Amino acid sequence: MSFRIREYHSADTDAVLELWEKAKSTGFEPVYGLAEVLASCEKDHAVVAVSGTRVVGIAVGRAAHEQGWIVFFSTLAEYRRQGIGSQLLAALESRMAPLGLTKLSMLVPDGQHDSNVLDRAGFVDRNHLSYFEREIPVSEKERAILADLGGRVLGGDLWDGIAGMRQEKELLERRLVLPLSDGALAEKFGVEPPRSIVLFGPPGTGKTTFAKAVASRLHWPFVEVFPARLSGDPRGLAGALRETFTKISDLDNVVVFIDEVEEIASQRGGEPPAATQGVTNELLKLIPLFRERPGRLLIVATNFIRALDDAFLRHGRFDYVIPIGLPDEQARDSIWRRYIPHSSGDAVDLAEMVRRTDGFSPADIEYAARKASQRALEAAVYDESGGAREGPSTEDYLWAIGDTRMTVSSEMVGSFLEDIESLARL
Ligand SMILES: Nc1ncnc2c1ncn2[C@@H]1O[C@H](COP(=O)(O)OP(=O)(O)OP(=O)(O)O)[C@@H](O)[C@H]1O
Ligand SMILES: [Mg+2]
Repeated sequence: MSFRIREYHSADTDAVLELWEKAKSTGFEPVYGLAEVLASCEKDHAVVAVSGTRVVGIAVGRAAHEQGWIVFFSTLAEYRRQGIGSQLLAALESRMAPLGLTKLSMLVPDGQHDSNVLDRAGFVDRNHLSYFEREIPVSEKERAILADLGGRVLGGDLWDGIAGMRQEKELLERRLVLPLSDGALAEKFGVEPPRSIVLFGPPGTGKTTFAKAVASRLHWPFVEVFPARLSGDPRGLAGALRETFTKISDLDNVVVFIDEVEEIASQRGGEPPAATQGVTNELLKLIPLFRERPGRLLIVATNFIRALDDAFLRHGRFDYVIPIGLPDEQARDSIWRRYIPHSSGDAVDLAEMVRRTDGFSPADIEYAARKASQRALEAAVYDESGGAREGPSTEDYLWAIGDTRMTVSSEMVGSFLEDIESLARL
């Protein structure tokens, strides 16, 4: 069979599609997606092999500084072993080399190696390379929306940064992260992934921290809605809230967070009606709309769940109502470690400090730690006996703990336990 090599034309698009589909159907997913291949055909460099009028092979390349990449290289099975591949590669190279390339590279799926063709064309198999890829979670268009909303993609692994809180973490992992991160699996089991949840608990227990950690775990962008900031909007808070949710609906994946939601969703009724009543109504309408589309999660947090309007917590608005309590021993241990300076290191009785701060919130621990450091610093500088000290001692810490008032009173803990009984939904 005779063939000739020529430049790619836009009219060859269908043939490229066929070649790409056939390459895919051999079980080896091409490294570059179809959209990338087609874009390169149009904008970069592509040559095709033609037999009669039929396109039977293609080589597509893209130059990146001194290194060129072969984005797609394929010949129809029935036309192989005739030297078409070698000629395609040679033709592509002669078009790309003048751009100043010193190297032409190609990624080939394991096992799909037609090394003969590549050998003959002078390509060397560089073993011991692995291919890594990561899907960039946010598109360019979404980036603009996010910037407008003050949202961002939270880097790092905030989830692992949450120490202790084993029960809470396990619950969120199972109920939220599992179905949201593997939608196909959830669907197989008939699980409808959650769309909105409430976190409640005393001040400073880590509700905001958990909301961010869930976003980081899912690799979804995080948008916090600040009602107080919206209230200055000329359309009024309700209008601004609606507008914000409209913008949010253009994002494919997102975790939306509203802290202190009781401020805009408190019990309605009362004479005269509270100023926030219209806002509560607006939010009650927005949540069902938000829930219509998958891939998004609304997390609202409150210290004062019993103040919320009854309609707000009614079934259908929130999938789960989850309590977040005070830090347990492990969490306190890790929060302490964060504030103890290296110089004190192992010298302090951490176990005793953890024991003595049962009932402390993370913020209380931070306060006590700073107080102890200040006291030790002053002693080291001004007391004659303290000059040799390296850093705060256990005694400084225990003194500071004794001098710190707990934010969360025992009444608050009592109400929290009652709220768990009557309002939690797990
Ligand atoms: N399990 C934990 N491990 C380590 N640090 C924690 C943990 N929980 C909370 N913290 C830290 O404690 C501080 C308070 O947490 P956060 O702001 O999340 O609490 P909150 O429940 O949102 O408080 P509020 O009710 O006041 O909004 C933060 O600095 C956070 O990093
Ligand atoms: Mg918070």
